[in-house]
Amino acid sequence: MNLKDKFINYFKSKGHIQIPSAPLIPENDPSVLFNTAGMQPLIPYLLGKKHPEGTRLCDYQKCVRLTDLDEIGDKTHHTFFEMLGNWSLGDYFKKESIEFSFEFLTKELNIPVEKLAVTVFEGNSDIPRDEMSASVWKSLGIPEERIAYLGVEDNFWIAGDTGPCGGDTEIFYFRSNDEIPKKFDPSDERWVEIWNNVFMEYRKNEDGTIEELEQKNVDTGMGLERVVAVLEGVNDNYKTSIWKEIIEAIEKVSGKSYDGNEVSMRIIADHIRTAVFISADYAGIKPSNTDQGYILRRLIRRAIRHAKKLDIDTNTDWILPIALEVIKKYEDYYKEIKENKTIVLDVLKNESVKFNRTLEKGLKEFDKLINHLDTKVIDKDNAFKLYDTYGFPIELTEEMALEKGLTVDTLGFQEKFKAHQELSRTASAGKFKGGLSGSGEMETKYHTATHLLNAALKVVIDKNVHQKGSNITEERLRFDFSCDHKLTDEEKEQVEALVNKWIQDDLAVTMETMDKNEAVKSGAEAMFLEKYADIVNVYSIGDVSKEICGGPHVEHTGVLGTFKIKKEEASSAGVRRIKAVLE
Ligand code: ALA
Repeated sequence: MNLKDKFINYFKSKGHIQIPSAPLIPENDPSVLFNTAGMQPLIPYLLGKKHPEGTRLCDYQKCVRLTDLDEIGDKTHHTFFEMLGNWSLGDYFKKESIEFSFEFLTKELNIPVEKLAVTVFEGNSDIPRDEMSASVWKSLGIPEERIAYLGVEDNFWIAGDTGPCGGDTEIFYFRSNDEIPKKFDPSDERWVEIWNNVFMEYRKNEDGTIEELEQKNVDTGMGLERVVAVLEGVNDNYKTSIWKEIIEAIEKVSGKSYDGNEVSMRIIADHIRTAVFISADYAGIKPSNTDQGYILRRLIRRAIRHAKKLDIDTNTDWILPIALEVIKKYEDYYKEIKENKTIVLDVLKNESVKFNRTLEKGLKEFDKLINHLDTKVIDKDNAFKLYDTYGFPIELTEEMALEKGLTVDTLGFQEKFKAHQELSRTASAGKFKGGLSGSGEMETKYHTATHLLNAALKVVIDKNVHQKGSNITEERLRFDFSCDHKLTDEEKEQVEALVNKWIQDDLAVTMETMDKNEAVKSGAEAMFLEKYADIVNVYSIGDVSKEICGGPHVEHTGVLGTFKIKKEEASSAGVRRIKAVLE
């Protein structure tokens, strides 16, 4: 049995319910591009909202982290990875959590206790030292010298800047054939972190203050790739069964062996896997110059450049057999991979064709440029030319420069880029760090207004109008829906008037928890049914709207104010987009 199945089976046997992996592209959350941790979709429940599946949950979760992009190419970092997680929402706490982890590692996976060590939180002025966790570890047979007490930097966990958080205890494995030192030194790289158990009992507020939560939670995350490497006894993640067929496909396409070509092969393998997952997500991301689309573009283009380094003829369909191996590996676990296989292959192929048109010339231009360089810096104009004329993402130019011992005037480039394109939101590193925007009062109102809009469109335009996407900020809602024509002024006015009538009627908003199939039978609307757990929340507004939804919503529509459509435009073929505000 593979590790994912073993993990889920174990936690199910301890009363946990398996929840589906949330989509890689978070919905209704403009503050993050990708899900970065298993707990992200659970934030409202960690803060106290009741989860329809109960208080013990587990899953395997798709994550993308881009903070370490430069480290991709080494043995242990990946842009996409799977995280195994178990949660207690105000149920068990430190003792059981540590006991579960210990039993799973030593009994289910048969990892010898001698190879394990742990860190616990040493405390600070606000929060006491975690003696409890240390004593549980000792009771299980972890000796004192294998326990290290560390501070906030290492043993306190929060996603982003605010939200649920707490001290944690991290489990390390000695990944080396050397004799195991008696005393655990967390800075010794032979000890690798494999599992993090966070005890989320606090909430960090915008103003930096920390308050105790009413419920004490556990949030754990175990990096699948690392643990598989441990179990298979290799010290290079890419030598595990996870990557075997993918690396073999790259070896076959390039006619080269992995040994001696590790870095480029790892980058190609990693980036194609991530590109497959991003383009398979139901959000329908395509390579572009902003947000997730830009990341997708960068990953594919960087993979292509490394393919060239391996002398692969990038004018062929070289990328497809590699992508097919990725798809084969994951399609039984993630439905969107199976369903969107054709889309994924098209995205990869089209982006390759596009980049190949200019790649060769761009590489020549780059060589010419560096041969004539008087300084060690590629200036902003040349960096911009490589971007604008030859399609080289700035990060690619930087990487190529670095290989030649040069740097790039990236700041200058960014200024030039901004001047050319107002829409330069992509490179703002802060966006990649994670952290969920709260559901403040305005966002909550917009959630409810979105349901009213969806219902009004069905009345005014056609009952077969369906939601295709939604995005909410404090300032506005954005709603994509299926529709074959541009709305007339009259239609827009009617939609607005109907939503405002429902607001004036001050309809009650109610929530029921029910079985997913029952919900559908009862006429509840859902955008991506397969994404929801078996038990769902259904929100009704008077008798005008009924949708499966995670909330949050206002209690009655009278508080929404006046609804106004600001813009109606095409989004993609057969899909229109409305931006609207509440005034
Ligand atoms: N949320 C914790 C992490 O990502 C478990 O490490």
